Amino acid sequence: MRPGVALLLLSLCVSRTPGLKSRILPGRRGAGGVAAGGRTSSYRTFYFQQQIDHFGFFKNGTFKQRYLVADQHWHKSGGPILFYTGNEGDITWFCNNTGFMWDVAEQLGAMLVFAEHRYYGESLPFGAESFRDAERLNFLSSEQALADYAALVGALKKSRAGAEGSPVIAVGGSYGGMLAAWFRMKYPHVVVGALAASAPIWQFPGMVPCGVFYQIVTEVFSKGGAHCSANVRRSWIAVDRLASTDEGLRWLAAEFGLCSPLSRGDGLKSWLQETWGNLAMVNYPYGADFLQPLPAWPVQVRPLPSLLHPLLSGVAKAAKLYYNYTGQAECLDISQTATGQLGTRGWFYQACTEMVMPMCTDGVQDMFEPEEWDFQAFSDECFHEFGVRPRPDWAETAYGGRDIKSHSNIVFSNGGMDPWTGGGVTSSLSDSLVAIVIPEGAHHLDLRYNSEYDPQNVLIARAREVKYFRKWIEEARAEGREGRG
Ligand SMILES: *[C@@H]1O[C@H](CO)[C@@H](O)[C@H](O)[C@H]1NC(C)=O
Ligand SMILES: *[C@@H]1O[C@H](CO)[C@@H](O)[C@H](O)[C@H]1NC(C)=O
Ligand SMILES: *[C@@H]1O[C@H](CO)[C@@H](O)[C@H](O)[C@H]1NC(C)=O
Repeated sequence: MRPGVALLLLSLCVSRTPGLKSRILPGRRGAGGVAAGGRTSSYRTFYFQQQIDHFGFFKNGTFKQRYLVADQHWHKSGGPILFYTGNEGDITWFCNNTGFMWDVAEQLGAMLVFAEHRYYGESLPFGAESFRDAERLNFLSSEQALADYAALVGALKKSRAGAEGSPVIAVGGSYGGMLAAWFRMKYPHVVVGALAASAPIWQFPGMVPCGVFYQIVTEVFSKGGAHCSANVRRSWIAVDRLASTDEGLRWLAAEFGLCSPLSRGDGLKSWLQETWGNLAMVNYPYGADFLQPLPAWPVQVRPLPSLLHPLLSGVAKAAKLYYNYTGQAECLDISQTATGQLGTRGWFYQACTEMVMPMCTDGVQDMFEPEEWDFQAFSDECFHEFGVRPRPDWAETAYGGRDIKSHSNIVFSNGGMDPWTGGGVTSSLSDSLVAIVIPEGAHHLDLRYNSEYDPQNVLIARAREVKYFRKWIEEARAEGREGRG
């Protein structure tokens, strides 16, 4: 287990960087479609010539940042823009999984923009070389990403007739939700408000106890079935016992259908721990294809154990439910916990620099083996991996930690059953820093398409979010009128 590197969301990435032309390149019509529950919406793909380094003047290289636009419902004279602040992965994937924006576009007369985060998807500052060394990775930071978004909004408003006076609302989930909140905090003149869904802006050192994430994972499993968390708790020692002999290792590799033989039990255990964390995140009330294709309430689907080592057979079946629901997986690869790998490298680097999120377990309040948060070990691993060391206090210095009362117009939504809610803002800090908790919700359930299986409380949450959007839009229009008058 790499404490602190639990991914907010795992991502799919494509590394392609076609040649650039003008500053804003028009894209292909219908380049992508979003299909969910029978709904299809189309967006166009564009590329924006973006500064590689916004905070220094020595070099002025640029790269192509990808963004997607859907403006079929946009009211051209001043209709709002909902701007998705892309997180650590392919932006089309977030676009496909943020049905909420598609659902509300028409009623708000809004343009939808999905901006890709630098170093993910196609938005690679140095193409295929982007991850090669610390010098090239140096421009991967949340501050640079926010500056990209601000520059992009400015350019969009200038280049699109009628958009000049459009109020912009930032929307994001998970790390993207943190960016949405920070975007409003740092660039209040650019965005009138933000919806930060399942955004653990307090998952940083000293802000919340390091054990909260895995405590919530345990709670989700406890609620999932009578012996669910107890079985996971018992499984670690069972893995150790089997892993102590060659025969046992072979049995484990075969039972889990692993791609390569096991030499020790540790890798298997940390992979399982991360897998259970991911499973809790995507414990949605209906079948969904997010981190992996899964059935409804996946934590509650109880696999049947076999006779030999029944406990571990059950664990193996549960792992296969997560990795092989579609029956397409020939074998399971314990070096990864979601489809696609490139995005994980970028996120690991971010965790190794400013996104330092301590994680620990104690085996008492959670179902895992005790493991302390060891900053030094983490820092050494980062140095070994990238030649950089993390700055654990930087996020607090840059973004204010728990002291954010001076800001305004941010809705923080959290699923009560999402492991990341432990680092989120779950009670309102002022009239305009509002917390919405969806008790049964998993990881940003509110950002997904409306579904007939949605619990009532997520429908209420979405309606409240739209009410705030309208309020911010009204306020911005009123200020605009005053400004002109
Ligand atoms: C920056 O880029 C512009 C346009 O590509 C170029 O004309 C200019 O010489 C560059 N300046 C520096 C300092 O590199
Ligand atoms: C998003 O959806 C479109 C249309 O269904 C699909 O072509 C595309 O591959 C999806 N992107 C990702 C990353 O899943
Ligand atoms: C995944 O499911 C398919 C179909 O049931 C099966 O043939 C395959 O062996 C499974 N893969 C693993 C790794 O168990």
